[in-house]
Amino acid sequence: MADQVVADNEMTMDDEEESFFQDIDLLQNHGINVADIKKLKSAGICTIKGIQMTTRKKLGNIKGISEAKVDKIKEASQKLCDPGFLTALEYSEKRRHCFRISTGSDELDKLLGGGIESMAITEVFGEFRTGKTQLSHTLCVTTQMPGRGYHGGKVVFIDTENTFRPDRLRAIADRFNLDHTAVLDNVLYARAYTSEHQTELLDFVAAKFHEEPNVFKLLIVDSIMALFRVDFSGRGELADRQQKLAQLLSRLQKISEEYNVGVFITNQMTADPGAAMSFQADPKKPIGGHILAHASTTRISLRKGRGEVRIAKIYDSPDMPENEATFAITNGGIADAKE
Ligand code: GTP
Ligand code: MG
Repeated sequence: MADQVVADNEMTMDDEEESFFQDIDLLQNHGINVADIKKLKSAGICTIKGIQMTTRKKLGNIKGISEAKVDKIKEASQKLCDPGFLTALEYSEKRRHCFRISTGSDELDKLLGGGIESMAITEVFGEFRTGKTQLSHTLCVTTQMPGRGYHGGKVVFIDTENTFRPDRLRAIADRFNLDHTAVLDNVLYARAYTSEHQTELLDFVAAKFHEEPNVFKLLIVDSIMALFRVDFSGRGELADRQQKLAQLLSRLQKISEEYNVGVFITNQMTADPGAAMSFQADPKKPIGGHILAHASTTRISLRKGRGEVRIAKIYDSPDMPENEATFAITNGGIADAKE
């Protein structure tokens, strides 16, 4: 009987999820030919909403898409789309699809209002060894288990620092009594070598999310800024860096909304001489400037406690108070700190 209830719930959930996005193939019914649709897909645009989210200029930059075609594509997608305005009630209905992924620590989940949120970017930053990469690894496993509002899914992990270790996933899987092979098979891994490569990989990610709808639930980028720091140096290249960064973040934001997935990014810190001068308690701040500050929906700072203990603090969130939570880094990944 209980099984029946679960099965029914799953069915209704799947039905709802099915309609979450409109496939770009629908454009065929509105006079756009298959070849052009293919061109859009190869640029990582796979849904009607994806077209809405892309400027005319950017569509025009796709090889083989002329200005006249851009107009036609925009017009056709407008016919298929709702105009963009919803009542708050309708919007709240839409946000009902939003789910939360557990971090492995109840205390940290509580701080986050239930865990890492879908349709949003969650950023953690902190000094080295504060647990950013360990949290990323833990999320690879917890995402696969039923969470708040969904029943588990696959993960994409983009690694810019070469610190991803599949063996850590095995140890974390053991903690939750999960099969190693299955857990590792559900994590799609890519190493990014340059900031450009990092951005290009997102086209592939979007295509994958589209190809296997409702299967992927989390996209991790560990870390978001490392390659930008290498590829752009000095004040002279800062404006260029921020522009490229903005493009990457905008892409991440769109992917999170378009495919209803969580986006989890890690970030580094820098000494802020200005803050030190003003005798602030913590003269360190996340890098990435205003561009990153505005892109992240929720920002969490991590700092070291004693031994394996770490302290997380809400740095910026639209709906969470500025509280703190304590957790521990264990062999089985992120967990509650023992009393
Ligand atoms: P950077 O990337 O260097 O900025 O640091 P980070 O914040 O990503 O740190 P990371 O997540 O790599 O955390 C490193 C901490 O996790 C260290 O204190 C390690 O001792 C601890 N750690 C790593 N693996 C294990 C493990 O298997 N068991 C335990 N108990 N701790 C671990
Ligand atoms: Mg790390």
